[in-house]
Amino acid sequence: MASKLVVFGGNGFLGKRICQEAVTAGHRVVSVSRSGKAPQGTELNDKQWIQEVQWTAADIFRPESYHELLKDASNVVHSLGILLENENYKKTLSKTPTNDSKSYFSPFQTGSNPLKKSSPNFTYEMMNKQSAVILANTFKQEILAKSKGEQAKVSERSFTYISADKGFPMIPSGYINSKREAEIELERMQEYFRPIIVRPGFMFDERRNAIGPRSLIHSALELLYCGNKFLLQNKLQFMNDLIRPTVSTQQVSHSILKKIENSDFKGVVTLEEILKT
Ligand SMILES: NC(=O)c1ccc[n+]([C@@H]2O[C@H](COP(=O)([O-])OP(=O)(O)OC[C@H]3O[C@@H](n4cnc5c(N)ncnc54)[C@H](OP(=O)(O)O)[C@@H]3O)[C@@H](O)[C@H]2O)c1
Repeated sequence: MASKLVVFGGNGFLGKRICQEAVTAGHRVVSVSRSGKAPQGTELNDKQWIQEVQWTAADIFRPESYHELLKDASNVVHSLGILLENENYKKTLSKTPTNDSKSYFSPFQTGSNPLKKSSPNFTYEMMNKQSAVILANTFKQEILAKSKGEQAKVSERSFTYISADKGFPMIPSGYINSKREAEIELERMQEYFRPIIVRPGFMFDERRNAIGPRSLIHSALELLYCGNKFLLQNKLQFMNDLIRPTVSTQQVSHSILKKIENSDFKGVVTLEEILKT
């Protein structure tokens, strides 16, 4: 029987490509998100893999809403988190351009809309760290309950956490700090599963050509990266640390599936390593 892979945030920007790659690799795939909705396919062949995923609704902060799903799971992926502690920025990233450039970019300014309160979980601590710790502990509890009856090997189970390459300029340090703190917590759980810590940089989707904030940021970062490579020939280390390559959600998903399927692997997957796969 194919192994079961559960993707939290499976209908998100990266999560849906992880689900697609996992279906293609022959896994039984379950996506978990609060809405439980399937993503909208953009290509003809999307319909097929979308039909093969079980799209379920649950809240990562409420283990009672999903622990049953983890009972027979071999691999769990955590693919949710935030870049800013301001709920508006996600909507802005998927917007199409308007003439009102002020409202278009305002959610990227930390001082925007001070009267609008985000939900209590919309903090770096909760979304980037605690959500992963809660999920990993729930997976651990299910493993312990199951192993009373049978002795499954640790190498047969994995927990993948989508971390990040580095912080970004103008993004509060809480972002990268919460990611690194979560990594440490997960690495402490090695006796129950293989922790796979994936560190992508700014991501784009190879199949999405729509002009929007995400594609504008992608083009600007690519331009800077090429300038640093061809004009400065990567000679200034501080520029190399600041200007990092972008990576597609397809490359990241491919790399994740390779690591999940390699029962000897655990640890960090760097941006450079993702770009090589
Ligand atoms: N995008 C980038 O360029 C980038 C770069 C580096 C690292 N990352 C990291 O990659 C990961 C994925 O990012 P992304 O851009 O794909 O995120 P995304 O598009 O915002 O997707 C987040 C997913 O999580 C679900 N979700 C949110 N809250 C939830 C909850 N309480 N319980 C269950 N599901 C919940 C959302 O669906 P519902 O709203 O339906 O719940 C959605 O499916 C994150 O850890 C992010 O920090 C992203």
